[in-house]
Amino acid sequence: MWGDWCDWGWTMRKATLGLLLLLACAATCDQSGQNQDGDQKGPLRRGHVSVVVVGSTGDLAKKYLWQGFFNLYASQVGKGYSFSFYGGGLSPDSRGTPLLFEILKSQDCPVDVSDERCALVREQFLRLAQYRQLKTEEDYQALGEHIETQLKQEGIVEAGRLFYLSVPAFAYADIAQRVNRSCRPPGTAWLRVVVEKPFGHDSNSAQELATQLASSLKEDEMFRIDHYLGKQVVSQILPFRKGNRKLLKSIWNKHHIDRMEIVLKETLDAKGRISFYDQYGVIRDVIQNHLTEVMTLLTMSVPKNLTDCKEINRNKLKVFNALHQLDMPSAVIGQYQTYNSEVQHELNKTKDHFSLSPTYAGIAVHTSMPQYDGVPIFLVSGKLLDERVGYARIIFKNNVFCVQDPTSITCKPKQIVFYIGHGQLQYPAILVSKNLFKPALVNNGWKEVTENDDTLLFGIPMSDYYIQTPVVQQEAYTELISQVFRGRRDHFVSAESLLASWKFWTPLLNSLKHTFPRPYPGGAANANLLDFQLQGREVRFCSEALVNMIPQEQTESFQVMQGKYRSADMVSAWSKELVERLAHDLQEAAEEAVQEGTPFHLALSGGSSPLALFKQLSQHHYAFPWWNTHVWMADERCVPPNEAESNFRTIHDHLLQHVRLPYFNIHPMPVQLNQRLCVEEDGGALVYERDIARLINASSFSYVLLGVGFDGHTASLFPGNRLDTSGERLVALTESPLKPHQRMSLTFGAINRARRVSVLIMGKGKHELVTQLSRIKDTPDRWPITKIQPGNGKLVWYIDYDALLGQ
Ligand code: BG6
Repeated sequence: MWGDWCDWGWTMRKATLGLLLLLACAATCDQSGQNQDGDQKGPLRRGHVSVVVVGSTGDLAKKYLWQGFFNLYASQVGKGYSFSFYGGGLSPDSRGTPLLFEILKSQDCPVDVSDERCALVREQFLRLAQYRQLKTEEDYQALGEHIETQLKQEGIVEAGRLFYLSVPAFAYADIAQRVNRSCRPPGTAWLRVVVEKPFGHDSNSAQELATQLASSLKEDEMFRIDHYLGKQVVSQILPFRKGNRKLLKSIWNKHHIDRMEIVLKETLDAKGRISFYDQYGVIRDVIQNHLTEVMTLLTMSVPKNLTDCKEINRNKLKVFNALHQLDMPSAVIGQYQTYNSEVQHELNKTKDHFSLSPTYAGIAVHTSMPQYDGVPIFLVSGKLLDERVGYARIIFKNNVFCVQDPTSITCKPKQIVFYIGHGQLQYPAILVSKNLFKPALVNNGWKEVTENDDTLLFGIPMSDYYIQTPVVQQEAYTELISQVFRGRRDHFVSAESLLASWKFWTPLLNSLKHTFPRPYPGGAANANLLDFQLQGREVRFCSEALVNMIPQEQTESFQVMQGKYRSADMVSAWSKELVERLAHDLQEAAEEAVQEGTPFHLALSGGSSPLALFKQLSQHHYAFPWWNTHVWMADERCVPPNEAESNFRTIHDHLLQHVRLPYFNIHPMPVQLNQRLCVEEDGGALVYERDIARLINASSFSYVLLGVGFDGHTASLFPGNRLDTSGERLVALTESPLKPHQRMSLTFGAINRARRVSVLIMGKGKHELVTQLSRIKDTPDRWPITKIQPGNGKLVWYIDYDALLGQ
């Protein structure tokens, strides 16, 4: 049968006339006489597809793309489409043609095609291919004209044109413009343009590229590839979650999941591609895209329809919206030791050049999605590590108490592993601990693995897992190329989710810009050097913890200075240590109150200085006696409490929502009464005053935290305010020179009754103020802060070195 086809094919003229071949063969390929769509009358004429690979002799094309197109062609033989393949490049035809054909000739046969048939298909594939120089606008015009002329001559209807841009991203916009101007198919034929990362290097550049591309191509014409989405295991994460939803429903949440790990470890270095890699580093190279995509698939709501790319996109965006912003302490970074000399060599740099690009990163991500709130998601990747492996695993808490036999199956660790590839297994697989449940096969193309050897996976024998794997292994690019051909968009990256991803990663990338990565030797010699641990929401290298094991008093005396300021006690340090010290002192005061059997009444101010303190308290002071603490406000702006300007809103967002404080211990100022803001006759100040008197012994706060404004104001007590200095009133409406003008504030009387008052001043910008305040006498009208003098309590100034020394 194939012999007939072959003889007939061989006699055909070379080049694009061959495009008729597939149409003709559709009627004859299938022995049943049917074409693959069951049409008994004759071949389906679905039209002609022109495939253009720009950058057709580059590394990616050589390794994966042509194989993908060859597989596509082999799978489509006899299904009614005809094809032509154009390999484009900057070289002239005389150089490009032999290079291209060398690559095309060496493509492997798809596993389901016999060698004999494969030889024929390959021969035909070669006949349908040609090299074209694609350098100038005219080259693209010529290509467009060529396609049209061929189609006319052959009298074939056009199905579409697929452009794969396997070129550096800086060339995308120009090529897209040329394709749009000269190669857009007429009528109803489709245009699909495939591009691959890097799609920018931060939010702004990604947005810029998106805008440029959008001026030439419609969103549904663009296929942004993330090849991880084409990996067999990754593409089955959602089907797995959907297929096993009944079993997963009760455990896929924060009550059962201990943590998620998404890992891509590599043994190779970046040699040979430093000019690309050094501009990007590991976070941009694989974490912002591949690992982030996996994270979204693990955490998004499972769409009702798994092929509905709009629903998938919507659900992905919800994931991004709920991610907590990352900053420097969310990541640890490293760089393999020989990297810098590779940079010097490949980029022609001198010996004193030092690159800060990380080749390793460990990152902890958190989300406020209620389902996963508090579950750390670790994203880890690095070059020159001990093993090449990719996986995502969900590790469950073990809530079984094993009284006698800790080796019994119920006592063993429970996890679901999406084993993307390589590593100990050497094949892609989904593994589920036997003490969780027996999962359904994700689809017919997968099979259960029952024969186990002695391999341990994550320290657990293989026999403890249910394992499933694809029957036939398939390269990601092959899968994705076939999806582009079929116009399926669900495994591609939309512009919206791309930009959301960059928006999420850019602040971390910026904060790490000047950070020195930890050097590591590479391979097994890394030993535990790159291990890191979670502390609150932050991560730290484990071995650094050893350094920190110097007794605390010693570190403190070295880093924190005690002195006097305006005749009161002063604590000074660099901002980080200062905040740590203040948080520590605050907790000590709260614990004293517990010991005395009294509530701890804490009045907090707004502004940006206390934000770092709030973070420190919520992330590192788990033993803080919040249940015994009442939070009051030192002052408030007359705006509704849900507005960004509200001090209560700030305290809520940065502290209250992260700690377990009983609701009835929270006392926002009543600035909004009778549907209006701070109107004298509504008596809001009096209401607050009564609350204070009702709940606090002698109306004496345990602790008041204040800041100082550039004009010397504190709480909302401003220069020139007519303030009650008699000490009778506890709360007053005041006026600020800045918007919003109306304020409510504790009075000097209320503050000075407190047992402890701390004034926190941070940042270089406050240096002038600190100097001035150190010189002046008490002049409350001009400098309200100077009126803060607790009668029976203690005042302590916390001033960081930036503010104190102005450096
Ligand atoms: C690419 C990165 O996107 O992914 C490479 O640029 C990385 O640095 C590769 O090696 C990993 O992909 P895979 O398919 O080998 O896991």
